Amino acid sequence: MSNVVVITGAATGLGRATALKLAASGYRLVLVDYNEADGAKTTADAKALGAEAIFVKADVSNETDVQNYVTKAVEAFGSIHYFLNNAGIMIPFRLLHEYDGNEYDRIMNINLKGVFLGIKYVIPVMLENEGGTIVNTVSSNSFKPTAYNGLYSATKHAVLGLTKSIGQDYQSKNIFAVGVAPNNMQTNISASAAVTYTEEVGQAIGATTPPNISATAEEVAEAMVFAMTNGKLLTGSVVNCAGGQILI
Ligand SMILES: NC(=O)c1ccc[n+]([C@@H]2O[C@H](COP(=O)([O-])OP(=O)(O)OC[C@H]3O[C@@H](n4cnc5c(N)ncnc54)[C@H](O)[C@@H]3O)[C@@H](O)[C@H]2O)c1
Repeated sequence: MSNVVVITGAATGLGRATALKLAASGYRLVLVDYNEADGAKTTADAKALGAEAIFVKADVSNETDVQNYVTKAVEAFGSIHYFLNNAGIMIPFRLLHEYDGNEYDRIMNINLKGVFLGIKYVIPVMLENEGGTIVNTVSSNSFKPTAYNGLYSATKHAVLGLTKSIGQDYQSKNIFAVGVAPNNMQTNISASAAVTYTEEVGQAIGATTPPNISATAEEVAEAMVFAMTNGKLLTGSVVNCAGGQILI
């Protein structure tokens, strides 16, 4: 049965909500995060809903950790049919010239290299398996930056590029990739950006963001499941959860 799903960033927010949505539907889950306590909680909750599930602690920006979660998935369940490449961070709101090199490296390593490494090690498993679908969590910032968010936006533009490339390069091999783009989703991710929040930043964000409807992680999880189960139809494209923003 094609039901093995690897989810990165499964400890909290969208990854957790998607894991719990899949848990009651017969999927076998490999839940990955560097937050061990909350990752273990998602795993226990998924099992309580009836899923077979394992937790693998991993920093998605660390190549050895990525190889390890892929290996553990195959050891536990034999293959990987769906890969929800979802872990991501925000960093403090700043103008581009105010960021330092360490902040640049951190967000590029997690949001872009982490996504690339997942793709790099999962695709050979999918090739062996003669197919699979990858869902990359992109963002409304993959299309249009919000103010004071230039590096985050650059990572999400790049992940959209990776998604399109998979759509183009692997279609004939039955490997598909779909982006899911949350916009204003109620999770903890913006807490690390908000440390530099001021009235001026808030006004600039408001001015660069058209009216939008915020969504819960549980609502966006519906889009994750739709994307992963419709890879052939949607490959190379994005399910926009934009809440009224016109992005493309
Ligand atoms: N919340 C929003 O408004 C919004 C909007 C657009 C896109 N997104 C994207 O949604 C995805 C999920 O974020 P969320 O909103 O659920 O936030 P979240 O902070 O609740 O979830 C992110 C998860 O990723 C994990 N993570 C972060 N860095 C990691 C690393 N190096 N290795 C392993 N795990 C790591 C965190 O521990 C956490 O469990 C992210 O890619 C984010 O960029 C969120």
